[in-house]
Amino acid sequence: MDLSFDLAKALDRTLTDAARRAGLTEAGFAPEVRPADPVHGDFQANGVLAYAKRQRQNPRALAEALVSQLDELAPLFGLAIAGPGFINFRLKPAALLAWLAAHSNREALAAGAAAAEQGHTVVVDYSSPNTAKQMHVGHLRSAVIGEAICRLLAFSGAKVVRDNHVGDWGTQFGKLIWAYKRQLDSAALARDPLEEFERLYKAGNSAAEADPTVLKEAQQELVKLQARDPENLGIWSRINEVSLFAFQEIYDQLGIRFDVTLGESFYNDKLEPVYRGLADSGLAEESQGALVVFHPEHPRFKTQPFIIRKSDGAANYATTDLATILYRTGPLHATDVLYVVDKRQSDHFEQLFLTARKWFEKMGGPLPRLRHLDFGTVLGENGKPLKTRSGENIRLKDLLAEAVERSYQLVSGKNPGLPEAERRAIARTVGVGSVQYADLSQNRSSDYVFSWHKMISLEGNTAAYLLYAVARIHSIFRKLDLRPGEAPGETGATAFETPAELALARKLVRFPDALAAATGTLRPHFLCTYLYELAGDFSTFYNADKVAVDEPAVRARRLLLCNRTLLLLETGLQLLGLRILTKM
Ligand code: ARG
Repeated sequence: MDLSFDLAKALDRTLTDAARRAGLTEAGFAPEVRPADPVHGDFQANGVLAYAKRQRQNPRALAEALVSQLDELAPLFGLAIAGPGFINFRLKPAALLAWLAAHSNREALAAGAAAAEQGHTVVVDYSSPNTAKQMHVGHLRSAVIGEAICRLLAFSGAKVVRDNHVGDWGTQFGKLIWAYKRQLDSAALARDPLEEFERLYKAGNSAAEADPTVLKEAQQELVKLQARDPENLGIWSRINEVSLFAFQEIYDQLGIRFDVTLGESFYNDKLEPVYRGLADSGLAEESQGALVVFHPEHPRFKTQPFIIRKSDGAANYATTDLATILYRTGPLHATDVLYVVDKRQSDHFEQLFLTARKWFEKMGGPLPRLRHLDFGTVLGENGKPLKTRSGENIRLKDLLAEAVERSYQLVSGKNPGLPEAERRAIARTVGVGSVQYADLSQNRSSDYVFSWHKMISLEGNTAAYLLYAVARIHSIFRKLDLRPGEAPGETGATAFETPAELALARKLVRFPDALAAATGTLRPHFLCTYLYELAGDFSTFYNADKVAVDEPAVRARRLLLCNRTLLLLETGLQLLGLRILTKM
């Protein structure tokens, strides 16, 4: 067996071959090699028990028959049979060294990881805010989780299409255009366009509430927009342009770059096939003037229909999303579509997917795999959705600015000797990274409590802790006058010996498992947990074993451990969307 990137998979294949030689495959022996609890070993195979049960054989004897076919593993692993037929594999120190030596840079890791998602074209629909409004804290999670997922998938070999499906077409534009024509404050627009649009929308809204003529006029503005009246179209497109420009400032801070921004309006001329397709296939029916799809087999959607055309003839969120599926399947060639959207929209997506599945079945075309990657709410310390003290939504812009400011305090306290400009630059990385990491380190499906105090801290599972670990390894190399990128001083390394060396090396070779767990489940927190543990093991190692010792072979292997820890921490953090630091 070779020491390829994904050792669990390689062991799996080796075991399948051994089973064939032992005459077990015909009857369906399926080895399942998984990362093991460190007390047992590095990996564990647990397909034997189930197979033995089916065959009414003694599992232990079966395991022994298998192990007798595994001589080729002897130079790499210590093998042991445990309990009723588990096979445990423990990497030998020389094999640990060989794996780490072979995976010495980002390219080697990427080459190893790229097999997992090869051949997939994944459209990721994330961030997707509505235009003419500020992005607030509710928009944080989709952007942060979506970007991490894009990076993880791309690293694992998928072709990723980042699509910002902005809400740029909706009934709000009637009131907004009404107010824009009458009350636009150009100075305010130049200062903060989204703020001005928000003010205009509110002004239009309250005017329409107070006065039925205004309401009528606003409705007419909307009708004119929908009929492509040049003036209204001009205002509308200006509002969207300016909004996207303002969003980009946030995206720049978060390191996000979309491949396409195909908002709802992009589908305006692509809705007919949806009505026709669903009506012709018999899935949609008229109900009280609207065109709707019922799902009789579903407990709720048998009475609560999916409305695809409102009774006034207008399209809605569902219509656009169906047209979007057609576009992503056709021109974008998606094999997978991921919707990174708040879990409060899960009914919408369940209905959307059900409808699309039935529709594509009737059309006989392959439907991409559609998944709603839901996430919970960001809560304040009071357990309610996070708001300002006066009960307003917190702007994302302000939240990030506060994170940077608080990080500046942290950095200045830790390293007051650094020049101010450098501390400011470090604070930007730590601040934004802290907000991203606090979000990503939680299982995305749960709500989480936003706590400045916990997230901007050098202790615990935080960005600052991990960025500091990275900076510390850089400083080790700086002191030795070595440059880590070049993997210096590693030649002549001997196999690991001390308990701390071995524990760190064993953690390092687990990186592929953490990556596979995060990418396979589309839950970045698995990678966060791994990085946190890795940084902890590095710390233990660094406190226990001196790196710059005189014996060249010992020094070389310890430098190798420093180098690989740095490589994996940096790679991992960047896959999560964070920026890294060489000094802190
Ligand atoms: N603009 C929507 C909102 O703010 C989110 C869109 C999510 N994507 C989608 N294809 N429905 O709620």
